[in-house]
Amino acid sequence: MFWHHALLALLASGKALAIGQETCLSFEPSSSAFSIVSKGKAAQIFVSNDEWPGVQLAASNFVSDIHSVTGVAPSISNATANSTSLHTASFPIIVGTLGKSSLIDQVVNNSKLDVSSIQGQWEAFMTRVVDNPLPGVKKAYVIIGADKRGSIFALYDHSEQAGVSPWYWWADVPATPHTNIFVAPSGCSHGSPTVKYRGFFLNDEQPALQNWAMEKFTNGTGAALTGSPFNHFFYTKLFELTLRIKGNYLWPAQWSSAFNVDDPMNQFLADFYGVVMGTSHEEPMMRSIPVEWGLFGQGPWDYETNSAFIYNFWVEGVQRAKPYESLYTVGMRGNGDLPLGPTTNIALLEKIVSDQRQIFTDEFPGVNITTIPQVWTLYEEVEGYYDEGMRVPDDITLMWTDDTWGNMRRYPVLSERNRTGGAGVYYHYDLVGPPRDYKWIQSTQISKVFEQMSLAVDREATRVWIVNVGDLKPLEMSTEFFVNYGWNATRWNLNNLDTFVSSWAQREFGLDAQDGKEVAAIVANMTTFLARRKPELLNSTTFSLTNYREAENVAAAWSATNQSAARIYNKLTTAQKVAFFQLVYHPVQAGYTLTNMWIAAGQNNMRAFQARLSANNLADQVEALFETDYDLEHEYHSLLNGKWDHMMDQTHTFYSYWQEPTQNMMPPVQKVSSRKPNIFGAMRITPEGTLAAWPGDNEYQCSNGYNCPPPAITLDAFVPFGSRYIDVGMGGSVPFTFTATPNVSWAKVSTSHGSLSASNPEQRVFLSVDWSKVTGAEVAEIWFNATATGISSFQLPVYLTANHTTVPSTFKGFVEGDGTVSIEAAHATRNTTVGEVTWTEIPNYGRTLSGVTPWPRLGNNEANYTAGTGPSLEYDFYNFNTIGQAGNVSVEVYVSPSWNANGADRPLGLGVQVDSQTPQVTYFFPTPPPGADPPQWNGNDGYVANNILTFSGNFTAWPGAHTLKLWMIEPAVVVQKLVINTGGVLPSYLGPPESVIIS
Ligand SMILES: *[C@@H]1O[C@H](CO)[C@@H](O)[C@H](O)[C@H]1NC(C)=O
Repeated sequence: MFWHHALLALLASGKALAIGQETCLSFEPSSSAFSIVSKGKAAQIFVSNDEWPGVQLAASNFVSDIHSVTGVAPSISNATANSTSLHTASFPIIVGTLGKSSLIDQVVNNSKLDVSSIQGQWEAFMTRVVDNPLPGVKKAYVIIGADKRGSIFALYDHSEQAGVSPWYWWADVPATPHTNIFVAPSGCSHGSPTVKYRGFFLNDEQPALQNWAMEKFTNGTGAALTGSPFNHFFYTKLFELTLRIKGNYLWPAQWSSAFNVDDPMNQFLADFYGVVMGTSHEEPMMRSIPVEWGLFGQGPWDYETNSAFIYNFWVEGVQRAKPYESLYTVGMRGNGDLPLGPTTNIALLEKIVSDQRQIFTDEFPGVNITTIPQVWTLYEEVEGYYDEGMRVPDDITLMWTDDTWGNMRRYPVLSERNRTGGAGVYYHYDLVGPPRDYKWIQSTQISKVFEQMSLAVDREATRVWIVNVGDLKPLEMSTEFFVNYGWNATRWNLNNLDTFVSSWAQREFGLDAQDGKEVAAIVANMTTFLARRKPELLNSTTFSLTNYREAENVAAAWSATNQSAARIYNKLTTAQKVAFFQLVYHPVQAGYTLTNMWIAAGQNNMRAFQARLSANNLADQVEALFETDYDLEHEYHSLLNGKWDHMMDQTHTFYSYWQEPTQNMMPPVQKVSSRKPNIFGAMRITPEGTLAAWPGDNEYQCSNGYNCPPPAITLDAFVPFGSRYIDVGMGGSVPFTFTATPNVSWAKVSTSHGSLSASNPEQRVFLSVDWSKVTGAEVAEIWFNATATGISSFQLPVYLTANHTTVPSTFKGFVEGDGTVSIEAAHATRNTTVGEVTWTEIPNYGRTLSGVTPWPRLGNNEANYTAGTGPSLEYDFYNFNTIGQAGNVSVEVYVSPSWNANGADRPLGLGVQVDSQTPQVTYFFPTPPPGADPPQWNGNDGYVANNILTFSGNFTAWPGAHTLKLWMIEPAVVVQKLVINTGGVLPSYLGPPESVIIS
């Protein structure tokens, strides 16, 4: 029984405690478990005084972590094998690094402990209860790192399992209290990480991070030469966080600061803590550009004319960095993240790199410079130089980059995978740049990060990973995911990606498994909604106000997600609420509020145009939501007496070009006179799907714009919503009552009468059809009759055409409604594997439901297929119409805006086929000139703004049953949605909602 309990506790708590790690701690005793804390007594921790200072620091942080969980602090002391304190300790924990700690080396020698699984393995660790570790010591728990960070990661791993989040300071996650902590005798272990250098880049730190740091880490003035607030008080917090999430590498903030100049302790302490420093892709040789160059440079930043000065500038960078573990950026870009001038040529750049190598040779005498970690980042135009033939020595890591919007431009192709320096990835979660900055709240889906970064693993770009995280907050979870995935990529796959978020939620907010899952769903929804279009790109007509109920449904989905987040929030303790607000509830509420504000503004504008008094309520709503937006920002800034003041300073409305505006502005709203009667009477009739309104002339009623007939709408049997609506509203100051009366029994109204007044100026009436009573197309008249005091009664018919489309009883599949067959790509009727490759769903990915992609990506030896030979997906559909009734349909394919990242000779392609017609193969991503973006990528309506790329083909498909088939041509194509246009597709942002499926 006892046993059973311990096991249950381990199972119940294990997953939540250390995301993605095997767990060895438990909170219930078992006969063999070693006690870290029990019965109010804590173990004693021993390190060696020749241990790395960073390990000693992590060990003392481990002590405070155990204290915050249990209220009891283990003691910590330096010891040798002979120390009395070690011999008399009841539960000694011996921590040390192989080959560094004389204490741990003695344990290994004496106990003959087999450390071969970690010896010489970068950042690996093992832990174990060891009998007779040293003469006279009966038993100890030993924590052994293969190197400095191996020991540090082992300690922080234990902290996390014990109940201290890596974000305890950065997101105020409270420790989970426990009375006892035990460890299984077999301990924990971890081999070398998948990615050797893993970390993040603070960037574009104005206005949020910099103003916050100035307030929290300085007396208001910042560093002497730069005014930067990023001193070692700030950075040591960041170093600790980096290590706690199992990262090891940082690019420091660069725009108004110079890491090594602002505070001479910065670089020393990074190394002391155990963090490898680098500089961004445009800052060679460990010097900050533009700031340090601005301070100390003389002459132009131009190697052609000023090489002597620049050379020495770099020499000083290397001299300053060489005592510390560093990863050197090589190459050169223009000053301020810009391309070098027009005269730059490959020969000059190759000379630059060769001079930089000379500096290493001179500054590291006796060292083989190929062992000094160096990286050359192929960012934008630099990738162009590479494409045009520029090469660097083989030991320099080639860092491939995304398009700044999360789509990798390139991965190493087969011939590039055997370089000794390997390859890496520079990725973005945050951007200042075209088409729009995106910096405000989390707008990246981890499913997308997984899709892109698992390809980096497959294609061996695993030497260095760095992600641009802007201000770091509020991108906490996705930052941890990026680093954690690099730490152990084997742990995460398409089937368990959700458990990253649910275990994260359990760890951060002390939730049970059920609520953890709910948070995973909230986060999946939130990031889907914010990724389908970055908040900075929203406007009042992003989502269609007239077609497919799109705007309303987007708002409703946000509302449901917000309610779900509120439910979780309300059950948390005060301390947990603070963390939950930062990590989940704020972005949900903020995203909901902003989207709702834009949608309400669009609806206001439309209703005002239609002379509907209800526009005024929406104007009020827009104003209220605009205030709520600031309230939420203020609430964030007021948490814990202002601990995170300024962190949400980023403006987020009315970008007119890529750069941020200096202030948030409210969308324009319009009002309808509430004092004047409408000149066409009291009642306005507005059918779904049009900007027209009746009575009175309106340019959208008919092409003339005057003398138009009454409204007419059509409903067929397979329209996904199953109804149409008519909004009945006041057109001005006159209240009225109305009736809605169909002239036939098959036409149904959701309400047959209503009474409208200033406080309730509008009512929505849904029209539906009793299909059992309709054959073919029949027309009903729905009479809307208004009665108002003082004016004569008014009536208007709405003509409803009910088109009873039917499919043969044997048909299964998607059925046309509304002139389209819309299909989520994951809902295939058949899925055919070829070899080991199968089209596989990536859940919670993309703009609507998910994506499908051929899996595994290295299948078929990475070769491509000709259309008709590879893995395929089939979708059975039934149509009643064709375009112009001429026998053709067009098939529009919605794919992720992935680049031709497998090299120019292997562009992404997909085969599309209808029935037995010839498959049409499309290579959909245009190849830009080297280092450039294709024009379709950019702009407010381009690939990345819309976060989708679509292409289409025409096929013959006379009314009846058909099969649409997708053929794999190339790996790494992700299909999200398919829209077959039979003549009725209308403009919208997300495309028509999914059609009815008969199964
Ligand atoms: C152990 O020794 C090191 C090096 O002398 C010292 O910095 C550290 O503070 C000592 N630790 C403890 C816990 O006494």
